[in-house]
Amino acid sequence: MSLLHVTIIAILLVSFPPTITCSRHRLDNHQSTEQIADRQPLRPARDDLASGEFAKWVKRIGEKHMRKQAMRAKAKNNPQLLDLDPSTAEPDLSEIYPGMKQYLDWESVVSSATYIIVDQNGLGQFTGISAALDSIPSDIFRRYRITIQVNAGIYREKVYIGKDKPFITMVGIGNPVIVWDDNKTNANNRTFESATFGVGGDFFMAVNMTFQNSAPAPESGAIGMQAVALRITSDVAVFYRCSILGNQDSLYDHNGRHFFKECFIQGSIDFIFGDGLSIYYRCELNVVPTSSGAVTAQKRQNATDNSGFSFQYCWITGGAGQVYLGRAWGPFSRVVYSFTWMNDIIYAPGWYDWGNYTRQATVYYGQYKCTGPGANQAGRVAWSHELTDLEVVPFLSLSFVDGEAWVPQNMRPVEGGL
Ligand SMILES: *[C@@H]1O[C@H](CO)[C@@H](O)[C@H](O)[C@H]1NC(C)=O
Ligand SMILES: *[C@@H]1O[C@H](CO)[C@@H](O)[C@H](O)[C@H]1NC(C)=O
Ligand SMILES: *[C@@H]1O[C@H](CO)[C@@H](O)[C@H](O)[C@H]1NC(C)=O
Ligand SMILES: *[C@@H]1O[C@H](CO)[C@@H](O)[C@H](O)[C@H]1NC(C)=O
Ligand SMILES: *[C@@H]1O[C@H](CO)[C@@H](O)[C@H](O)[C@H]1NC(C)=O
Repeated sequence: MSLLHVTIIAILLVSFPPTITCSRHRLDNHQSTEQIADRQPLRPARDDLASGEFAKWVKRIGEKHMRKQAMRAKAKNNPQLLDLDPSTAEPDLSEIYPGMKQYLDWESVVSSATYIIVDQNGLGQFTGISAALDSIPSDIFRRYRITIQVNAGIYREKVYIGKDKPFITMVGIGNPVIVWDDNKTNANNRTFESATFGVGGDFFMAVNMTFQNSAPAPESGAIGMQAVALRITSDVAVFYRCSILGNQDSLYDHNGRHFFKECFIQGSIDFIFGDGLSIYYRCELNVVPTSSGAVTAQKRQNATDNSGFSFQYCWITGGAGQVYLGRAWGPFSRVVYSFTWMNDIIYAPGWYDWGNYTRQATVYYGQYKCTGPGANQAGRVAWSHELTDLEVVPFLSLSFVDGEAWVPQNMRPVEGGL
């Protein structure tokens, strides 16, 4: 572990975006102009091929995982057993990353080229984050890690890590905050470009960092107010103890496999959205007061895609008004909350079909052993699931994101009780 940490004793107050009271917002988000709370999406589920097929997949993977666990338990005294069952093998990343079998080493070798310090008071090589990133040569084939230590301070920067800069770790010391305030309107009308911090390089990791979009909370009926704090478009990424702060569309979990642990994610409307395949483990999902909103807008578009969000042991807190657990931005949207505490701002139906009832048959939405006043399933739409012990297994497994190959050992969920 690095001894290069420069100790800065500074306590900085993060200026949180102002909260809003009970104004009604027009949800022009992405494509819909519906007011989500005006709909009563209570049509019965249809017997549909896609959701039926997925339910079968869930069961099959659950059974496979149980067998694997049993085999691993037996193999403790008898390691050669593992060779007998190929399904116990760790996933192999070499298919997508030639030459790479596993990637579990998230720390860089410490040298001035691989360990960069950013410090606003001049105690590092750079005073800004973009300048530090610019110093890293473009090399899409680089297979060693470069760590950027970011010392305390508020960094008013819009940052983008390109596809050509894989294997970057960013570690905050003393809660540094990266903040910008673009909204969709002034970002060429593209939600994507409003991000304060965008990641395009694979194998990114951030620890103890805060990403914020400080665009004001939207006025009632305003359009073009999506304001992304963090966009992650690359494959294989870990966010540990990070804060992602904004109002609408705070976290664009755009594409690729991601693992969020102990993060604080704040917003009101669709504030975790995109087509990523992600586990959120022990994260706080904090709702900014709104009249109506949604925690997620997952965008899975195709019966053959495997994206989706799995929330495990999270907390839904804050807020005033009512929010959905999720809205179907994509027709095959997939979101499951397990062991999650929910406060009373969850709208009883729980889920919204984005004003298109055909999506009720193709989405996969559910809960497993959630608690708190918002977790009551009684008023939930008929097309959502209360998962069984078997059905929940794929969503609680690191295999959901092929994480056995890349989630650092010390960050793995403790797989207990199953
Ligand atoms: C953004 O969209 C609005 C409304 O659709 C349009 O009036 C405006 O010209 C667009 N701005 C840019 C820069 O494309
Ligand atoms: C992140 O912050 C926590 C709490 O301040 C600290 O204990 C931990 O060592 C930090 N992690 C790293 C990698 O610096
Ligand atoms: C977007 O940002 C611009 C520039 O800061 C601002 O003038 C505009 O009001 C914002 N739009 C919304 C809908 O908040
Ligand atoms: C769904 O995915 C398949 C396989 O990748 C592709 O051929 C097809 O065009 C996709 N359909 C849509 C609607 O995107
Ligand atoms: C509803 O969603 C389906 C599937 O995505 C799509 O084909 C259809 O055009 C949508 N209908 C409307 C009215 O948007």
